[in-house]
Amino acid sequence: MPSARIGVAESITRALETGSQPQVLVRTVTGLERLAAAELVAARHRVIDLSKRQLIVVPSNATIITDPPRLADDLFVIKAAVTDPGRTRQALAVAMMAVRRRLRACPAAGESVFAVSASFQGTRNYNRFDVEDLVGEALRELTGTPYHSRRTGTPPPTERVDWRVILDGTTMWIGVRPFDVPLHRRDWRRQTVAGSLHPPVAAAMARLAQIRTGHRVLDPFCGAGTLLREAYNLMPEATYLGIDQAPDAIAAARANAPAHTSTSVHFRQGDARQLSVCVDRIVTNPPWDVRLGIGDIAPYLSQWRRILRPDGRVVAILNQEQAAAMIRDATWRVLDVYDIAVAGQHPRIVVAELRQCSGPAQVSSIVRRAVLQQAEHLVRLRHRSEGGGPERW
Ligand SMILES: C[S@@+](CC[C@H](N)C(=O)[O-])C[C@H]1O[C@@H](n2cnc3c(N)ncnc32)[C@H](O)[C@@H]1O
Repeated sequence: MPSARIGVAESITRALETGSQPQVLVRTVTGLERLAAAELVAARHRVIDLSKRQLIVVPSNATIITDPPRLADDLFVIKAAVTDPGRTRQALAVAMMAVRRRLRACPAAGESVFAVSASFQGTRNYNRFDVEDLVGEALRELTGTPYHSRRTGTPPPTERVDWRVILDGTTMWIGVRPFDVPLHRRDWRRQTVAGSLHPPVAAAMARLAQIRTGHRVLDPFCGAGTLLREAYNLMPEATYLGIDQAPDAIAAARANAPAHTSTSVHFRQGDARQLSVCVDRIVTNPPWDVRLGIGDIAPYLSQWRRILRPDGRVVAILNQEQAAAMIRDATWRVLDVYDIAVAGQHPRIVVAELRQCSGPAQVSSIVRRAVLQQAEHLVRLRHRSEGGGPERW
């Protein structure tokens, strides 16, 4: 673990021991705020405020730094919080006096050069660089650490500490990132392909899938394997299969796969229109692009229906049209829909299971289970005849 992270984790532990309540600002994806809160609460942290893309958290221990939330885009330890000064430069200058008082109480920022990024909501008669430079200069004076201004567009040095200022309309938050890079940049991500999913979104989908020990989990449009990689992180005791028609996607997914998982994580080239596996969970991200996309999603939905176990679940991130088709399809019982905003698009995460019926449908579920068992048997036979080492599904 990088030493900066250890230092911040230790300071959080010390602060908690002395009875003070350190606060952390977590940024997430629009539409995932409640799921991010649930992840933090499950890790026993206390979420004290939630707004668009942002959560304020009182950590219960240093794991918020050593094992940070996977739905977070970024995370900052809050060093000062004052009332948002609003529109005018004069009010901003007054707020800066309070900011300086709060920052004076903070320990020095450290040896490295630091940079500041600011953002605000609403119309102001100052710009982000004005805010950044005011906070940057205050920190430079207080700590003696060199400040890199972003105003000229010169890229900051790679080795630096990043401070963040957010004026959210109510509060002006000032925090420092305890990591070298934003949390959404995963160290496992060696390769990407066109359409690669934002990892915190993949992590949210993995949580929604409720994958259990021993489950077989399929992504029939796996791309660079983001969804399965995040799902594996959450539940390593399941088996994962990624299928993609593009060889470069399979190569990327293999490059991104966790080490030493050859018996539980597999990727192979194939067509999502011809699936021959039986699975407990489908987590997937079909192409959304209307022009180069997959056209009507109905044939894919019928594949999913055919291969999913009766108590299975699908978590799919779909464009509006695809989502509408799935929601309309009476064979699916939609459990939840999350509207999110990511990469300038507005997809929907649909969580669904097969609709269970009584009477004749019970018979059909028995028939389907028999068909699934037969398909499993055939797959096993095929792998054995291919001499393909351990049985894959
Ligand atoms: C949006 S990308 C998936 C990205 C993936 N979630 C990631 O993070 O890397 C969609 C993928 O579907 C694949 N694809 C499109 N049609 C397919 C088909 N009929 N069968 C299998 N894969 C297909 C494309 O090659 C592409 O890699």
